[in-house]
Amino acid sequence: MQNNTFSTLFVGQNLIKLSSVDSTNNYLKNMASNFEPLTEGTVIMADNQFAGRGQQENIWHTEPGKNLTFSIYLCPRFLSPVNQFSLNMIISLAICNALARFLPERPQIKWPNDIYYNRKKLGGILIENSISGNQLKSSIIGIGLNVNQQIFDTQIQSKAISMNQILHHDVNKLEVLAQICRGIEQYYLNLKANKIQVIKEDYIKNLFKYQTEALFKAQGQEFRGTISDVDNNGLLNVSCLNGQIKKFNFKEIEFLD
Ligand code: BTN
Repeated sequence: MQNNTFSTLFVGQNLIKLSSVDSTNNYLKNMASNFEPLTEGTVIMADNQFAGRGQQENIWHTEPGKNLTFSIYLCPRFLSPVNQFSLNMIISLAICNALARFLPERPQIKWPNDIYYNRKKLGGILIENSISGNQLKSSIIGIGLNVNQQIFDTQIQSKAISMNQILHHDVNKLEVLAQICRGIEQYYLNLKANKIQVIKEDYIKNLFKYQTEALFKAQGQEFRGTISDVDNNGLLNVSCLNGQIKKFNFKEIEFLD
């Protein structure tokens, strides 16, 4: 186990820094299968990730050395698979709280777990759970945050934002990582203590476009509606103009404005 200065009990106490790797999620997955038992809270961070993976089989591009790309190993055996969305909630909340300490305004969570600032994507989360029977055996929490990158590819420059672009100066990546690890540990312990209702209320309050009329697209149709809730299983509830409440799974709905 490596020593570091994080003021946590376990998240980030075993911090492994790599200069270059395909994907920190892949690396951690291999470690978890080869080094049983892997210490819970182990963090793998990489300066350069050359085949980073995003949600929906997307590629996660990041300028080498500029941003945070890391993965955390958790063993939430206390959670049943039907409650796995609670992990998405606590991780996104912990990131928002941590980043709010550095930024002039609070970031928001674009359902299910994108980190948004000024309507642009500041970070993304890729959670890969391993389920055994009726238990979550382990969870690999991959986090990518735009920290010091100043220029993005033309295809994404209107949609992405970094902390440097907001603050007009570089930020110490390890300080940001330390705050995120602290926040994740606190929320994780709250989840373990079954404080799910408080966590859900907190998550809803931080949702991008919550209780604001907006334009969406589902099954090829555009429609206006208002996000009214997120189910315990993670479905997004949108209240349509005719009063009907529609429920959407990830990938089934697009935010248009
Ligand atoms: C998204 O599509 O929004 C999720 C992006 C997740 C990227 C992070 S970077 C660290 C970890 N390793 C990966 O390959 N992906 C995640």
